[in-house]
Amino acid sequence: MAQSLEETPPSRISLNEEYRLLHEVADTLQSPGDTRTMLQQVMRILTGFSELNVESKAGVFLADNEKRVLRLYATFGDFTDEFLEKEREVPFGDCLCGRSAESGQLLMSDSCFNDDRHERRFEDMTPHGHYIIPLKSRARLVGVLFLYTQTHPTWYRFSQEVLLSIGGLIAAAIERQLNEEELDRYRKDLESIVRERTAELTAMRERLRRLNSRMEEVREEEKKRIAREVHDQLGQSLTALSLDISWLGRQDATRDALLAGKLADMQTLVTDTIELTQKIASELRPQVLDLMGLPTAIEWQARQFALRTGIQCRCEVGAPCRDADPGMATAVFRVFQEALTNITRHARAKEVWVTLECRTHELELTVSDDGRGFDPEILNAPDSLGLMGMRERVRMWNGAIEFESEPGCGTTVRVKLPVRQHGV
Ligand SMILES: Nc1ncnc2c1ncn2[C@@H]1O[C@H](COP(=O)(O)OP(=O)(O)O)[C@@H](O)[C@H]1O
Ligand SMILES: [Mg+2]
Repeated sequence: MAQSLEETPPSRISLNEEYRLLHEVADTLQSPGDTRTMLQQVMRILTGFSELNVESKAGVFLADNEKRVLRLYATFGDFTDEFLEKEREVPFGDCLCGRSAESGQLLMSDSCFNDDRHERRFEDMTPHGHYIIPLKSRARLVGVLFLYTQTHPTWYRFSQEVLLSIGGLIAAAIERQLNEEELDRYRKDLESIVRERTAELTAMRERLRRLNSRMEEVREEEKKRIAREVHDQLGQSLTALSLDISWLGRQDATRDALLAGKLADMQTLVTDTIELTQKIASELRPQVLDLMGLPTAIEWQARQFALRTGIQCRCEVGAPCRDADPGMATAVFRVFQEALTNITRHARAKEVWVTLECRTHELELTVSDDGRGFDPEILNAPDSLGLMGMRERVRMWNGAIEFESEPGCGTTVRVKLPVRQHGV
């Protein structure tokens, strides 16, 4: 053990050498790359610094300050498997490195066989001395660096200053690199979580979309069935009833004025009910849509709207889309009905313009009114369920819907749907 340092200042030559060494180490510590490779490079530089008289053997432990153990992180030079296995973990206070970790002091040891502090033994341990350098970043211990020397070496006069400075540089670099590596790991973890969640969400959205579209089909089928039953069954029974009433009216027994008046009332009631069932059936599912196609159904609905509301409705429809899917035609028709309902309920319009155009690859419907319009913020309101339903129906067919509106300036609803080649 030779820890006493001479007081004489360094010669000019050795100062130059030290600057060169520090410069080289600092340079390596700043170069990009992984931490382990960087440390091995630094150990190569240190073992090459002749003033230290060290062998080409060194290693770095990283400190776990919570568990108070050192863990072997990087080595330079030849070490036996036994050494690497046994030195994987060294508790603070144990052997030379553990002692340096505990005290934060630089240690120099003349020979592993004569030094009581060198407690660990290996089968093929050859005699050697040590520099044990604590790696401290500010007050925090980051690890320990050990350099092998021959036994009883000539200790370098300024080892304390130079090695502690280098220890500080290494510690700061390790901290920075490990932080960066950890940040990088976090970033990658986050990215993969985001990717997973996005995939889950996409799959979930796709399932919802399919479910929604299936429910829509079921609803339309159900409406069709009820409409048919109301129209056919109820309509036929009522017609039969009406015929019976007429027959009764022609019988002698009913010549009585009171009875005749009652029969006439019944006839009126039955006729009104027949009309009502037809209206209900057609509101549920206009037959015209199934029988005559979308353009005629739109014209028919526009006429009904004008009759019912007294609002003028100009309607321009083109030729039917030969390639339009019946489900898509239903979606457009339902969107149209909702647009008209909104005009009736909210717009206070005098006039409405409707166009339906079927181009080669696209179907476009516009519904404009000269009513009071609305604030576009309403589009995002959670209770705008009608508008949301319109959007959803259009989305199911990969289409686009726009609402152009401003208070006082009327409203235009524009729907564009791609027409695929499968009978829309
Ligand atoms: N043509 C229109 N003219 C004026 N306001 C409209 C029109 N269409 C929609 N709105 C406004 O948008 C709101 C949301 O419409 P909607 O989602 O269909 O819900 P609801 O009709 O049940 O109120 C309406 O309350 C109304 O304020
Ligand atoms: Mg509405």
